[in-house]
Parts: sequence; C-alpha cells; structure tokens
Amino acid sequence: MKKSNPPHPPVPVWDAAVRLLHWSLVASVAAAWITRYRLGPLHENLGYAALAIACARVAWGFAGRHHARFAQFVRGPAATWAYARAVGAGRAPRHLGHNPLGGWMVVALLGCIGLLGFTGWLYTTDLFWGYGWLANLHEGLGWALLGLVALHVGGVLFTGYKHRENLLRAMVTGRKAPPTGDDVP
Ligand code: HEM
Ligand code: HEM
Repeated sequence: MKKSNPPHPPVPVWDAAVRLLHWSLVASVAAAWITRYRLGPLHENLGYAALAIACARVAWGFAGRHHARFAQFVRGPAATWAYARAVGAGRAPRHLGHNPLGGWMVVALLGCIGLLGFTGWLYTTDLFWGYGWLANLHEGLGWALLGLVALHVGGVLFTGYKHRENLLRAMVTGRKAPPTGDDVP
C-alpha cells in the first residue's frame, strides 16, 4: 500500500551555498590533509582551496539569510553554557539551525582552517621559510583540526541520535522536519 504524505512536510534549512561550501570544504580539507607530506604546489594549492572556501563561508555568514547567518547561531557564553548543561541533563531542545555548541564549533573549524592557510602561506615566504617553529605550529594546527573534525562529527551523530533525525541527510537535501513543541526554530 502506498504511504500517505506525512502531515508536516520538511522545511528548507540549509541553503544551496551552505551545502555546497560544506561538502567542498570537507573535500579540500581531506585532500590537503592526505597530501601533507608532499612538499610543493599540490598540498599548498589544496590548502589555499580550503582557505578560499572557508573565507566564502564567512562572507555568506554575513550576506546569507537566516540559518546561514552567524548572528543567528553564534550565541553568548550564558546561552551556550545553559545549552551545554541541558545537553548534560539530557533535555537539550532541538534546534532547526545550529545549536549553540554547534555554532561555536563552526567558528572553531573555520578559524582553524584560516590559521592553517595563514601559517602555511607564511612558511612559503622568503622571510619565514625554514623556521622550524612555524612548520611545527602549522603541523600542530593540522592535528588540532583533525581533533575538531572528530568532535564535530561526534556532535552531529550524538545530536541526531538524541532527536531521532538524520542531520547528515539534512546537510545534503537542506531540509529538516518542521519545529514542534520546545524546538528552537
Ligand atoms: C574536514 C571535515 C569537515 C569540516 C571542515 C566541516 C565543517 C563544517 C562547517 C563549517 C559546518 C557549518 C555549516 C554551515 O553553516 O555552513 C558544518 C556543519 C555540518 N557538518 Fe561538517 N565538516 C566536516 C566534516 C563533516 C562530516 C564528515 C560530516 C558527516 C557526518 C559532517 C556533517 C555536518 C552536518 C550534519 C552539519 C550541520 C550541523 C547541524 O545540523 O547543526 N561534517 N561542518
Ligand atoms: C586545510 C589546510 C591545510 C592543512 C590541513 C595542512 C596540514 C599540514 C600538516 C599536518 C603538515 C605537516 C606534515 C608533517 O607532519 O610534516 C603540513 C605541512 C606543510 N604545509 Fe600544510 N596544511 C594546510 C594548508 C597549507 C597551505 C595553504 C600551505 C601553503 C601555501 C601549506 C604549506 C605547507 C608546507 C610548506 C608544509 C611543510 C612544512 C615542513 O617543511 O615541515 N599548507 N600541512
């Protein structure tokens, strides 16, 4: 028997730019990471691609609309702490956009990629070429990014499990179930 349509069809949350930038950021960061031992243009250009995509996402955070905007999802310390406590107590409300912890994770991921691009570029300049501390800093930032990505994916899976929704699919289709009850729209 054919299933009837659900009473509340999914609503658009992530616009096309957010989704395209997300998955191209994932691809370029992964490629830069894989080529990290290859000195030369391949690793550098993949790193610059990641940097350019991160910059485009930052611009979209000001120029885009609603759930794409930093002003919508970057919350102050009090709201973020309250949300973290609610997560600990197992009663965190569902957010249609990024939740406050996820919002700070977006800032941390983009910031780390920005610092990686900057330190990587600096190392290729005549002035800073060959400085061991700079190479170590760049490498350390690479490992920090790996740790952040692990936390990010863990957070996505945990939140999706708690609210019984497939957040990964939402980052592909852009759509999520509409807010109900205590959900934050
Ligand atoms: C190099 C690895 C990754 C980076 C740098 C990264 C970065 C980001 C960024 C910047 C956002 C914010 C999206 C926006 O508002 O534009 C985001 C969100 C998201 N990412 Fe990733 N991501 C990575 C890997 C992944 C992977 C492997 C998955 C699959 C599980 C994933 C799933 C998601 C989802 C579902 C969201 C939306 C979170 C929400 O519902 O609030 N990401 N990611
Ligand atoms: C998301 C972006 C990037 C990531 C994740 C990344 C990651 C890394 C890591 C982990 C290493 C250390 C490899 C080792 O263990 O020896 C490395 C090395 C290096 N990266 Fe990047 N990188 C990025 C972007 C860039 C950019 C944009 C440039 C330059 C334009 C760059 C230039 C270099 C150079 C020259 C080295 C070798 C340093 C040395 O001689 O020890 N990287 N990168």
